[in-house]
Amino acid sequence: MSTDSCHQTEGFKLIRYKRGNKSSKYKTLSKSHEIELQPNKEATLKRIHEAKSEINSSDLFASAVASLREALTTLSNPNIKEIICFGLGRIGECMISRYQLGFLLCLKDLHNAEVKIYDPVFTETDRWLLRQFQCEILTENSEGKYRVGDKHTTIFYMPHCPKQLTNNLLWANWGLNLNSCIIIANSFNSIIENSPKRVLNQNQYLVNIFPHVLELAVINSFRFFEIFNDTAIHIFPWNKIKLLSDDFWEVGAEPSYDDDDVEFVRVKV
Ligand SMILES: C[S@@+](CC[C@H](N)C(=O)[O-])C[C@H]1O[C@@H](n2cnc3c(N)ncnc32)[C@H](O)[C@@H]1O
Repeated sequence: MSTDSCHQTEGFKLIRYKRGNKSSKYKTLSKSHEIELQPNKEATLKRIHEAKSEINSSDLFASAVASLREALTTLSNPNIKEIICFGLGRIGECMISRYQLGFLLCLKDLHNAEVKIYDPVFTETDRWLLRQFQCEILTENSEGKYRVGDKHTTIFYMPHCPKQLTNNLLWANWGLNLNSCIIIANSFNSIIENSPKRVLNQNQYLVNIFPHVLELAVINSFRFFEIFNDTAIHIFPWNKIKLLSDDFWEVGAEPSYDDDDVEFVRVKV
């Protein structure tokens, strides 16, 4: 799935500006500086509430909740307080992002958790919308290198995100700390099966953890197939990862990637 998939512009309001004195008429739409397209915030807010409600009663969400329940039985701390979301996309403009936000908000309610969220493409409208749902917007691009503590379990929700974000997240939490992470993202299994060797070589943390991860399905029965396709829940069960040697957990160099992936946004140096 690429960012090109988000091209819907419903919910936009065409605004025409008057220019000059009282008597001037609305200008024609031919000059670009006289037209501004602006998402209609209230209409978008309503759409998000509708999307959330639809997700909440969907079989897809029921399947995710069942898998999460199973996941929590294998973790040492079943208490979820925090959800970190990366790569949601432009919720003001994109229907896919809105439904994915609906899913996030259902998870937030389910666990009564705090949500922190970051995507470099967020607009001011996106930030306003997210604030209406008490989501904290992170201001720095961590490139996915977000380290969690071990006092509670953190859900990372990264729908259709670049692999580098997942690989960086694994690197940042490399060790038994991973038992405190649940990653809802593109299926690791599909990534390993479908990515060329050159790409996998750059995502070594993902490759190395793959045999020890437990991937739980989210049955994609949602009426729009492409919104949650390939999404799975990943956990790192204590009884598996505690058997791994110290050598395995040795933290190597910070990952680095070829510059040819435009989807992954790095910190500007
Ligand atoms: C393929 S798009 C997915 C968008 C949306 N979730 C969807 O499914 O259509 C990948 C998203 O990851 C975001 N992204 C890229 N680099 C990021 C970073 N360093 N931190 C957070 N999000 C990032 C992009 O801005 C983009 O919105």
